[in-house]
Amino acid sequence: MRILVTGGAGFIGSNFIHFIIENRPTWQVVNFDSLTYAGNLANLEKVAKCKNYMFFRGDISEPADVKAIFSESFDYVVNFAAESHVDRSLYQPDVFVKTNVVGTQCLLNHALEGGVGRFLQVSTDEVYGSLGPEGLFQETDALFPNSPYAASKASADLICRAYFKTYGMPIIITRAGNNYGPHQFPEKLIPFFITKALRDEPLPVYGDGLNVRDWLYVRDHCAGIVRVLEAGRAGEVYNIGGENQMTNLEITTQLLEALGKSKHLVHFVKDRPGHDRRYALDCRKIENELGWQPEMEFRAGLKKTIEWYITNKKWWHDITSGEYLKFYELHYRDRK
Ligand code: NAD
Ligand code: TYD
Repeated sequence: MRILVTGGAGFIGSNFIHFIIENRPTWQVVNFDSLTYAGNLANLEKVAKCKNYMFFRGDISEPADVKAIFSESFDYVVNFAAESHVDRSLYQPDVFVKTNVVGTQCLLNHALEGGVGRFLQVSTDEVYGSLGPEGLFQETDALFPNSPYAASKASADLICRAYFKTYGMPIIITRAGNNYGPHQFPEKLIPFFITKALRDEPLPVYGDGLNVRDWLYVRDHCAGIVRVLEAGRAGEVYNIGGENQMTNLEITTQLLEALGKSKHLVHFVKDRPGHDRRYALDCRKIENELGWQPEMEFRAGLKKTIEWYITNKKWWHDITSGEYLKFYELHYRDRK
């Protein structure tokens, strides 16, 4: 099998490549990534020399780059490449539309032309919008995205659906909950708070801290994607959740306890504009049809994640400087 992984230098994409090399050693993996601030080849050091792994630098929204990669055909394409952080999308929505919408369509065009066995679009529960205190998102729910990030991912999902219906392309969409685990860029809640707490810096909790997310360990997500890729039905959507709903304050408290740090590090700050209150996924479809279930218990997953950030300080020290800092100085000036 030949698989094209876009965005493979990012958090989930790099975990996915490790998962494939370990669990499908006969597959040929091509990683296509433009290496934005979130792409980091250090995530792939352990596989870089593997004979069945190849890296190609390119942008999914640049037709010449995408055409070049499709000069060879693939059995599978898994599209992780995206701008992925909601806070950034509030300040730079145009880059989200370019990569997440135009880029996905560009990939679809060339995959259609070159022929592909299966195209899997990695999407998010954020496309469904926000839930009240009760209920779970189902795959058949209408899309009500609230942030520019969520709207760009929802748009990509709709383009995928149209390419399945119109051209009969074998496309499947997965929609996952909030991932956590090793190699996550320290701008997302869990790694941001771990790395701040390790430096005894205040943890900025937005609003009242009672927003709820459905947390999924990244390796469970990768296993779910492989299951869907191999056995899912074309044209379908599959939710992939951790079945683990928690408020941001619960997460923060567990994290401070695990690190042995004071709760006085918690600082409530101005809320994120358009902040979705709750996400939670109904995962019966992937469980009943494909026999996938999340395996990692949250406390154990958080412990593993914290250990990884403690052992890999150089990894995050190297990236929490330069452009990253500039963005965050601007961002927090706004929030205080
Ligand atoms: P990430 O930001 O860590 O990585 C994104 C990767 O895509 C980076 O390596 C970056 O260099 C690359 N990239 C960005 N723009 C590109 C372009 N134009 N061309 C080629 N490569 C480009 O993101 P992540 O958290 O690993 O998320 C991966 C995918 O999973 C995204 O599509 C995201 O929407 C989806 N998702 C993420 C989560 C989550 O909790 N992180 C949950 C559900 C779904
Ligand atoms: P995030 O990791 O950005 O993921 P998403 O917005 O895609 O769910 O944020 C997770 C939750 O944590 C979300 O409710 C926003 C909140 N949050 C904070 O309270 N403070 C922070 O500094 C960050 C980054 C997030």
